[in-house]
Amino acid sequence: MIFDILTLFPAMFAAPMGQSILGKAQARGLVEVRVHNIRDYATDKHQMTDDRPFGGGEGMVMKPEPLVSAIESLQQETPRPWVVLLTPQGRLFSQAIAWELSHKTRVLFICGRYEGVDERVAEYYTDDQISIGDYVLTGGELAAMVLTDAVARLIPGVLGNEASTATESFNEPILEHPQYTRPRDFRGQGIPEILLSGNHEAIESWRRGQALYRTRQRRPDLFAKLILSRRDEELLRRAEEENEIHSRKSVPTDDQENGFALCRIGALSGSESQR
Ligand code: ADE
Repeated sequence: MIFDILTLFPAMFAAPMGQSILGKAQARGLVEVRVHNIRDYATDKHQMTDDRPFGGGEGMVMKPEPLVSAIESLQQETPRPWVVLLTPQGRLFSQAIAWELSHKTRVLFICGRYEGVDERVAEYYTDDQISIGDYVLTGGELAAMVLTDAVARLIPGVLGNEASTATESFNEPILEHPQYTRPRDFRGQGIPEILLSGNHEAIESWRRGQALYRTRQRRPDLFAKLILSRRDEELLRRAEEENEIHSRKSVPTDDQENGFALCRIGALSGSESQR
């Protein structure tokens, strides 16, 4: 997939796009990020890319000519890019939109600056307008990087583990379960014992319960949209019980043990002394 980025600040993209998973995906030819300087498309002698707003007011507005010249020039190429303007006035970015964009062969992100771009560019020369949140950044560059990252990792082969994108948060609108790694005891804090059981089915159930619990606690808006199965309700009830025990930092009594989750004390399997 090709990501074209139109910006007045191409240098901003070098490190974030060249490192880690995105860097490797580019080296392997799965993704290509092409950054274009809008100023290169300005034809007047001062290479102006912005001007004062008609009607007066604060700040500057990005001029239409260089932007449209860049868009039209890239649209003549094959494949033709899908043109997205990054703006706080766009539709709110989500995992669903990331999936939607990941099916395009080429996208062109336009990064606005200052007071934004001339409305005629937004209206007549873009296919889509996207915001990454209800706050105002100094420009669309960081938003373009967020989209590039979120979309690129959905392209087959980029993460190397297709299952991880298929099961993660927001395909089903639910937060992920907590994760732990070594050491088993970190400064006296252990980990939920179930994770050491080797019982994959029980671990999967525990994770599902924790994910549901966490979603209800942290994102009641998402939780309200879920349709829970009987099993989900039972797993949630167990997670609730376990987390209450954990938050009281007490050891569950034997009759609370159900051979299932048993997160002892500060949730801790590493601390045998606390048993
Ligand atoms: N440009 C400035 N703020 C933005 C936002 N929240 N999302 C996308 N582009 C932006």
